[in-house]
Amino acid sequence: MAKTQYYTATSIDGFTADKSNSLDWLFEVDEGTENPFGEFFEGVGAFAMGARTYEWVLENDNLLDEPQNWHDMYGDVPCWVFTHRDLPPVEDANIFMISGDVRRVHEAMLVAAQGRNVWLAGGGDLVSQFVAHDLLDEIILGIAPAILGDGIPLLRRRVPVDDLILTGVREVGQFAYLTYAVGDVARIGRHLAAEAVTRIPSLR
Ligand SMILES: NC(=O)c1ccc[n+]([C@@H]2O[C@H](COP(=O)([O-])OP(=O)(O)OC[C@H]3O[C@@H](n4cnc5c(N)ncnc54)[C@H](OP(=O)(O)O)[C@@H]3O)[C@@H](O)[C@H]2O)c1
Repeated sequence: MAKTQYYTATSIDGFTADKSNSLDWLFEVDEGTENPFGEFFEGVGAFAMGARTYEWVLENDNLLDEPQNWHDMYGDVPCWVFTHRDLPPVEDANIFMISGDVRRVHEAMLVAAQGRNVWLAGGGDLVSQFVAHDLLDEIILGIAPAILGDGIPLLRRRVPVDDLILTGVREVGQFAYLTYAVGDVARIGRHLAAEAVTRIPSLR
């Protein structure tokens, strides 16, 4: 079944960018030779980002002058950019500028994704709105060996322990990738695990 996933890199202390919206610290980290993002993106049928993330991507990848960089990264996979402003589009990119309730947009994204996954690219401001409406199924974190002390938070709301269950751990270069099921999927997982312990005495 298609999942809605928040895949992002983060510092050990849970910041996706430093105070000045810089990711320079992230690019200093050894990524190894595998390409977890490439593998992940093969399963994505639609994605979304907030205005500040879009502005960062525009600048970092020089997209207004070199729109081909967007196509090289994301092909024709449709992207919804949440904003209240008139942000510049990337030439010929499959981008929809949108504002308002994430629930309505999420429905459109699921249809567009045609059974593939929906990627929430960030930032924490936007993804928190999906969490608030119980629309997030999975978090995949690439944890970089950096402690920033301050910056842009991974999420801007609390997610209770019962709503998260660790489903994957992977080492890639200097990154630790952790995957968590979120919300209903995590609650069902916990329930099934608890039942198994009750039924099989040797697991107690
Ligand atoms: N480490 C990583 O891999 C990674 C990944 C993603 C992001 N980041 C970083 O995170 C930072 C941005 O994160 P952030 O949490 O500050 O911001 P964000 O979620 O990217 O963008 C927030 C902005 O999006 C617009 N927005 C959000 N929800 C909306 C809605 N429902 N309707 C209309 N507009 C809406 C608003 O901008 P306006 O009202 O101004 O239009 C809001 O201020 C950047 O520095 C980025 O580089 C890092």
